[in-house]
Amino acid sequence: MPKIASKLELNRVQELDYLLTQLKPLILNHISNASNPESRVGPRISPLELTKLVKLDTPSKGSGKEGVYDLFDTVLKNSVVTWHPGFLDKLYASTNPIGVVSDLLLSLLNTNSHVYTVSPVLTLIEKKVSKSYANLFGFTGQYAGGLTFSGGSWSNITSLQIARSILFPQTKAEGNGNYKFALFASKHSHYSVEKAAILLGLGANNIFDVEVDAAGVLNVQDLENKIIESKEKGFTPLYINSTAGTTVFGSFDPFDEISAIAKKYGIWFHIDGSWGGNVVFSEKYKHKLKGAEKADSITANPHKLLGVPTTCSFLLLPDERVFQTANSLDAPYLFHSAESDDTFYDLADGTMGCGRRPDALKLYLGWNFYGKEGYEERINHAYEITGYFADKLQNNPSKFKLVSTNPPPCMQVCFYFNKDGKFDDKEQNSKITREIVAKLHESGKFLIDFAPAHGVDTGEFFRVVFVSPIVNSDIVDDLYSTIIEVGENL
Ligand SMILES: Cc1ncc(COP(=O)(O)O)c(C=O)c1O
Repeated sequence: MPKIASKLELNRVQELDYLLTQLKPLILNHISNASNPESRVGPRISPLELTKLVKLDTPSKGSGKEGVYDLFDTVLKNSVVTWHPGFLDKLYASTNPIGVVSDLLLSLLNTNSHVYTVSPVLTLIEKKVSKSYANLFGFTGQYAGGLTFSGGSWSNITSLQIARSILFPQTKAEGNGNYKFALFASKHSHYSVEKAAILLGLGANNIFDVEVDAAGVLNVQDLENKIIESKEKGFTPLYINSTAGTTVFGSFDPFDEISAIAKKYGIWFHIDGSWGGNVVFSEKYKHKLKGAEKADSITANPHKLLGVPTTCSFLLLPDERVFQTANSLDAPYLFHSAESDDTFYDLADGTMGCGRRPDALKLYLGWNFYGKEGYEERINHAYEITGYFADKLQNNPSKFKLVSTNPPPCMQVCFYFNKDGKFDDKEQNSKITREIVAKLHESGKFLIDFAPAHGVDTGEFFRVVFVSPIVNSDIVDDLYSTIIEVGENL
């Protein structure tokens, strides 16, 4: 038989060395430029304009390493700079140096954390960091743990699917059968609850929307009323979704009281802590999560408040074995049951997926780099900056009206601006908000967002989010005066 020579990547060490050396200055400049006062937070350009500006190609003949610098440069120049201090958009900011190299390490290994055989230490790392994370939330039993999923939405969706499989195991084989399951979520909960209901065939209309108070906090009495109502209508109550840090206001629901209701009616109690769950790292603020230890499942996203590279989201459980009970099919082609204890090490067996990126490594490296104390400082700083901005707005009622409570419950400040101090006209409020947000983006100085909210009938308001530890009071002062300057000149 003639020998067959390898084809590609003969010089892979030299090639990677070349690429890293060539790209390193671009990478470092991207970050250092972000701190330059003249730099821009990113382009404000429509998809049609950008299509004309950037020549994208998928050639038949590759340009090899010679073309990579230009491609890299094009992507960087036409992307939003999350390292910029003016990046105050929704619910995340740049990662950090250890975050960048953790992603590089994952790409270098390019392994799969579906089974232990191909991800030995990464599997142990996922189990270790999940347990420590779960412990922080008060899941302290022997089997406390978690798994990563590709975002908070998928962690939430998985929590509902696990709830059904554990509380009604026959549904795994038979489907919903004659059950008409009812779900309960506040009017400020994230849309992933609705998507989960659609995906699992439970039906979005079978979510009972629970009222919130003016601060966006779930009304427990209404929750109980809705549960009773659902039973009277022939539903089987299945799942309560509560939130630690709602998407728009950042509110925390009363977990102790919700847990009591969940127990009383035998309903799964989930906490969506995608956004606010990470206050658990702060001794000063973790009281907001009081009662979380009584939950059946908790979602927490290091890729939002902790600056771990996107995506990194965990679903945490008091007993990690529940993942396997709910999801295992014992696929013999994949899971060869390595010598083990009474938990599981082939992590995909506990999920509805197969291939998985070992995202837990990114939190593990970040946690080891900064320590719990480093994350605590990060959270405390973000609260300090958020409170500073909210105070400034509150102190100038002739131009600003806070929608958020002060101090805000999480790291977003919601408010209106009006140069004449008039905030009654809904259309006018929305128009001013949108125009100022657009002008700030065009200026390249700030990228902030706006939102409507259920229960706020005075139009769309600004929603400024403080995640990054590089934001200081000078930047906040600048944002404050820039909004006034732009707003006065509309
Ligand atoms: C409260 C809440 N839950 C879930 C999500 C979804 O998380 P992800 O974007 O990681 O899917 C978000 C996103 O902002 C959120 O605010």
